[in-house]
Amino acid sequence: MNPVDAIRDPRIAAARALATRSGRAAAGRCLVEGADLIRQARAAGARLDYVLRAAGVHDASLEGELRDAQVPVHGVRDGLLRKVTGGTKPVDWLAVAQLPRPAQEADAYGDFAVVCERVADPGNLGTIVRTARALGVRDVVLTDETTDPSSRRVVDASRGTVLDCRIRRFADPAGAVAALRAAGFQIVVTSPRGTHLQSLAPLRGRRVALVVGNETEGVSDAVQAAADLVVQIPMAGAVESLNVGVATGISIYELRMRMILAMLTDRIPDTLGRNLTAGAHLVRQVFDAELRAIGDLDSSQAVLLMVLACEQRTPLEQLRRDIGVGSEELAASVAPLRDRGYVAPAADDPAHLTITGEGRQAVASLWAVQERVEEALYDGFTTTEREQLRSLLGRVQDNAVRLVRTGGR
Ligand SMILES: C[S@@+](CC[C@H](N)C(=O)[O-])C[C@H]1O[C@@H](n2cnc3c(N)ncnc32)[C@H](O)[C@@H]1O
Repeated sequence: MNPVDAIRDPRIAAARALATRSGRAAAGRCLVEGADLIRQARAAGARLDYVLRAAGVHDASLEGELRDAQVPVHGVRDGLLRKVTGGTKPVDWLAVAQLPRPAQEADAYGDFAVVCERVADPGNLGTIVRTARALGVRDVVLTDETTDPSSRRVVDASRGTVLDCRIRRFADPAGAVAALRAAGFQIVVTSPRGTHLQSLAPLRGRRVALVVGNETEGVSDAVQAAADLVVQIPMAGAVESLNVGVATGISIYELRMRMILAMLTDRIPDTLGRNLTAGAHLVRQVFDAELRAIGDLDSSQAVLLMVLACEQRTPLEQLRRDIGVGSEELAASVAPLRDRGYVAPAADDPAHLTITGEGRQAVASLWAVQERVEEALYDGFTTTEREQLRSLLGRVQDNAVRLVRTGGR
């Protein structure tokens, strides 16, 4: 096929319009220059409309990759691509890539966001984005118009990862901080003169918005005053500050790890498994104390007798599930009941248990204890709340039974 050789060719004209910021904003697209960067951008998840390749240039693996992805590749007359980019160096490969849809206010945030307050250098912004993506952070907040994340230098320095980022732009830093706080973030500002050492700062188990500042002025006084914490990375020697991209990498790495640990520490006491286990243990203690006062059965044996009284004849396997114990625990509970003549294996099948006449009498005497303890445990509950609790616990049990049956899927 003949190479594209006219500057007026629509594919060339469309690409050329992307050399300016207004052209990129209008088209929702940007340029990706060079075979390596095109590969990296695709690996980062960028979507390409088409690729322009200088005549006589070949890269079999990239061409194969683009063919498989059904991205059109057009050969272009030598020297024409340099006119598209307006640069001074020869250009071999140039892709037209779609910019990610600008993040909306209603879009969900991840658990960590990086706020760049007037970071002016495109290379620094690209480094911040690249590092953030490498450390699992996707939300980047910009607080002014100065730096354009679709510019060639940002795309280049971010190794294309800026095309797979959730970028939000706020007209002023105070608005960004307020929106992030409303979304449940704690605001952590970084400064060479931070009042807390970063590794010792009292971080809470909540999402973190990390604020980094302008290369010369740092984070503004207003944003520092609105922060939950202002942290510093300690420096040795007569160094005034770290490069903002380097500082951001260190801060994301350390604070994200500390945030996850703080979240775990906060949440473990409130997990469903822990709540149910602790609740069951306490309820059992109350029953055991009451039962000891009237006889020598414990709560597991009492529950077992009650279940048998309802069902008449029950498979051991079902009993195990109904009272929530393992086989050995069940055997330990059944043995004393059998010794006292309260239960016996079914005559026709030893894998089933039946309740005897003596066992029924024991249940009758236990029933009063059961009612008294249950009333005391439901103290302060309305009838509707009791019903709701039963129904909710029943649903958790149904889900657990399903998970056990399906092996956790
Ligand atoms: C080059 S520094 C700005 C220096 C500015 N003169 C100042 O005092 O903040 C750019 C940004 O990098 C981050 N930074 C640099 N060094 C830091 C340090 N030692 N501790 C914490 N953050 C640092 C801060 O976010 C800072 O706003």
